[in-house]
Amino acid sequence: MFCEATTLYIEIYIMAKIREIERRRTFAIIAHPDAGKTTLTEKFLLFGGQIQVAGAVKSNKIKKTATSDWMEIEKQRGISVTTSVMEFDYKDFKVNILDTPGHQDFVEDTFRTLTAVDSVIIVVDGARGVETQTRKLMEVCRMRKTPVIIFVNKMDREGRDPFDLLDELEEELQIGVRPLSWPIDQGARFRGVYNIYEDKLDLYQPSKQVVTEKVEVRVDSDELLNYIEEGQAQQLREDLELVGGVYPDFNREEYLNAEMAPVFFGSALTNFGVKELLDCFVEIAPSPLPTKAEERLVKPEEPKFTGFVFKITANIDPNHRSCVAFCKICSGKFERNAPYYHVRHDKTMRFSSPTQFMAQRKTTVEEAWAGDIIGLPDNGTFKIGDTLTEGEKLHFKGLPSFSPEMFKYIENADPMKQKQLAKGVEQLMDEGVAQLFVNQFNGRKIIGTVGQLQFEVIQYRLQNEYNASCRWEPVRLYKACWIESDSKEALDEFKKRKYQFMAKDREGRDVFLADSSYMLQMAQSDFKEIKFHFTSEF
Ligand code: G4P
Repeated sequence: MFCEATTLYIEIYIMAKIREIERRRTFAIIAHPDAGKTTLTEKFLLFGGQIQVAGAVKSNKIKKTATSDWMEIEKQRGISVTTSVMEFDYKDFKVNILDTPGHQDFVEDTFRTLTAVDSVIIVVDGARGVETQTRKLMEVCRMRKTPVIIFVNKMDREGRDPFDLLDELEEELQIGVRPLSWPIDQGARFRGVYNIYEDKLDLYQPSKQVVTEKVEVRVDSDELLNYIEEGQAQQLREDLELVGGVYPDFNREEYLNAEMAPVFFGSALTNFGVKELLDCFVEIAPSPLPTKAEERLVKPEEPKFTGFVFKITANIDPNHRSCVAFCKICSGKFERNAPYYHVRHDKTMRFSSPTQFMAQRKTTVEEAWAGDIIGLPDNGTFKIGDTLTEGEKLHFKGLPSFSPEMFKYIENADPMKQKQLAKGVEQLMDEGVAQLFVNQFNGRKIIGTVGQLQFEVIQYRLQNEYNASCRWEPVRLYKACWIESDSKEALDEFKKRKYQFMAKDREGRDVFLADSSYMLQMAQSDFKEIKFHFTSEF
């Protein structure tokens, strides 16, 4: 009898656990700056009941690369910690939105965030179409086979022909597309979208700005003319016929396999098309997916807790320097104060104040499930990519460093503060702010970034958080590539011949510093046995 009761209890527990995991939707909204990511995020939070009025969430982006703007972000950083992850309940689902920095100089931060999500929504400006940042981010999604939904925003403005846009999306983002809503006109004449997924007409009242009047009317009925002009109705019918003829039916499997992206049209600013997007998203987007570790594939429903740190954010309060390490739970259940194994340190740790994030608030979390993101207070314990488990020695994959675009020698500007500088540089690199290489020829330290702004950030933070000053000196470099070869002799010969250009990264891996694209091409053609990699993971 006791046994039966125990078995029943275990079964109920397992079912509850699976239900918890299945209802989670962990994703990121990505976009080229200004396409409307912040506006859309905010509207999602409105629907999730996390904020009551639009305008409550401040964007933590910086539009220009001037230092004055950097100071501005510094002030905002206090909130950027809490807006790094936003979670809310919607219908039966638990939605976790991971914020990504808009500025291109922080694109690597976005790449890392993409390792912690199960799907993404890409926002595209209806007038501008696919822009550089969209293209780059999509490359990462393709590489990781992340399911993608596209939201074409700003339909309340004059934009491009939707069919042309779909062609561009397909071509530029190299993915099949399937519209699940269709705009009725645009700009001042924008009347709404036909919701293809639900087969309903969603009307837009420009004067009201927020209300979407939903009517169920068939596209071929005369009733349609009660809502939109005859010319618009005619156009809509023709367009939908063409959509049906040209694009294959929506197939969830294809979406989940990242072979096809559903496309929605709308206007985030006027709150139009957002609920339709969210309703469809929670239904079709994947629940937490398995995560690849070097040792094995980790499934979310496994009983034991595992997770990895994908982001570390400093809280810039001069009186209270602290960091938050963001940990994605890959399997099992995390519990406050339970002992967990920090694989790199080979040490057991307990976390008494882990946090979860609700729009602008942080709350202490007692337990969290696979798919969730928790914030762990950190004072130098964590490094990007660190793994926590219940004892298993696991190393999660997929947190590559990319070859930087800009390089500078970093020098100590205050001989009395050598130690502070070394510690500061060490910790900022652990946070993934930039990459450090040590030239093997002259022993000098080189910092590599993807943009000028990161150098300013490093200098500012070293001064403010570590009381250390640094000076930048120019170094003419084009690319840093990680090298390897099946032949030890070939590798040794290469390193001997290129000794002035050889460096080590922080993991002690060999890096070749090419000073021009010509030099790189020559090296590639002269040393056929050497493989040159532009990301640290290969
Ligand atoms: P981002 O996070 O992707 O960089 O974009 P964000 O949401 O900040 O939007 C960029 C600009 O585009 C903002 O205007 C925003 O109001 C506007 N916008 C967003 N969605 C829509 C839309 O659907 N229609 C129209 N017409 N505009 C939209 P801003 O003037 O740069 O900023 P603000 O002063 O309005 O905050």
